[in-house]
Amino acid sequence: MNMLSINVNGKSVSADIQPRTHLADFLREKLNLTGTHLGCEHGVCGACTLLVDGVPTRSCITFAVACQQAEVTTIEGLDEDEITRELRAAFTREHGLQCGYCTPGMIVSARDVVLRMDAPTEHDIRIAMSGNLCRCTGYVGIVRAIQQVVRERRARGIAAIPNGNRTRLGPSGSGHAAAVAATAVAPAKLVDAPQVGNAQAAPVAAASLKDTNWKPQTSFTESFTVAHPVGLVWDFFANIGGVASCLPGASLAGEPVDGHVNGQIKIKVGPISAEFQGVADVTRDDATRSGTIVGAGKDKRSNSSTRGLIGYSVKQGEAPDQTKVDLTIGFTLTGALAQFSRSGLIQDVAGRIIAVFVQNLEAKLSHRAEGGTGDEPAIVKEFDAGALMRTMALDYVKRAFGWLFRRK
Ligand code: FES
Ligand code: FES
Repeated sequence: MNMLSINVNGKSVSADIQPRTHLADFLREKLNLTGTHLGCEHGVCGACTLLVDGVPTRSCITFAVACQQAEVTTIEGLDEDEITRELRAAFTREHGLQCGYCTPGMIVSARDVVLRMDAPTEHDIRIAMSGNLCRCTGYVGIVRAIQQVVRERRARGIAAIPNGNRTRLGPSGSGHAAAVAATAVAPAKLVDAPQVGNAQAAPVAAASLKDTNWKPQTSFTESFTVAHPVGLVWDFFANIGGVASCLPGASLAGEPVDGHVNGQIKIKVGPISAEFQGVADVTRDDATRSGTIVGAGKDKRSNSSTRGLIGYSVKQGEAPDQTKVDLTIGFTLTGALAQFSRSGLIQDVAGRIIAVFVQNLEAKLSHRAEGGTGDEPAIVKEFDAGALMRTMALDYVKRAFGWLFRRK
């Protein structure tokens, strides 16, 4: 982890981040500045364009740590900016947007054109804006909007600023780097280190996996309820092999010895399949009916590693024969599969894995409640995130249609 100190939209921000975190991910996920859009994530479409030290910059291919002490301005920080206000009005007048996905990046680049170019022709504007792609408008309205703003400003006697006041050479964001040691102050910490799981048990378990300083990069909470008494559920959770068998794709190499167990989990995302082999430490506290599972694993084929922590707490549900289970989940994914660790996506996928887990758990608990005799209940054993993604896409379309028809 690296300590990042930057200025975002006029406010000092500091946070502990992974060196590989891109500026766009940092702004969207840690600061909730979602006006910066992500399209291609390869520096091609321009949707993620924002200003670093006043220079339009692709935030999807800029490491946040490369912007140490830089001034970052996102579309949210341009709310009161005069040129941006004029561009917004002109884009509206000229139909310079349709779905609006490209618009934040378009506006940032257009602002740069208005600021720097004295009397650009249509051709000049098209060349200057060629790094911003729009799949909806056909660009005519965008170009017209920019031409209008340039024309009106020059008519009001506002001249272009050659180079947009840029005085520094080198990549954007690099301007302040040399001065960090001399000028570093201690700004308010905006992003707290995530706390995961049972406060007493988690550090104990983490210590046995050696690196006590590890903190999960992504964390979230989930809860579920099962229609069985709390005592039965808590007893079932004592059998880590039984719990693992409810998790699609997971299996153990044997029973835990001194709270330590080897196992594996297989995950399939469309054509990509990964098999993480690893170890886990398990702790459990009868007094608070809570516990933790701390694990680390590696998928050799993709050379990806993961480290994760699940904290759980088993409580009485609202009805007498109901049990509520609260989960806190934290993990870090590195290597080729790290692209799947974006928190919104992973949380949605995790929610669906948990739904399958609960379905399997219900089946096993019912079997146990009936005395555990007869055949083992049928459970879902495989997890295919590709199938889940398709369901998610379908859900999304259903939600969108629901929203559309509710409006009428
Ligand atoms: S998302 Fe950054 S250029 Fe496309
Ligand atoms: S308005 Fe839809 S991508 Fe540009």
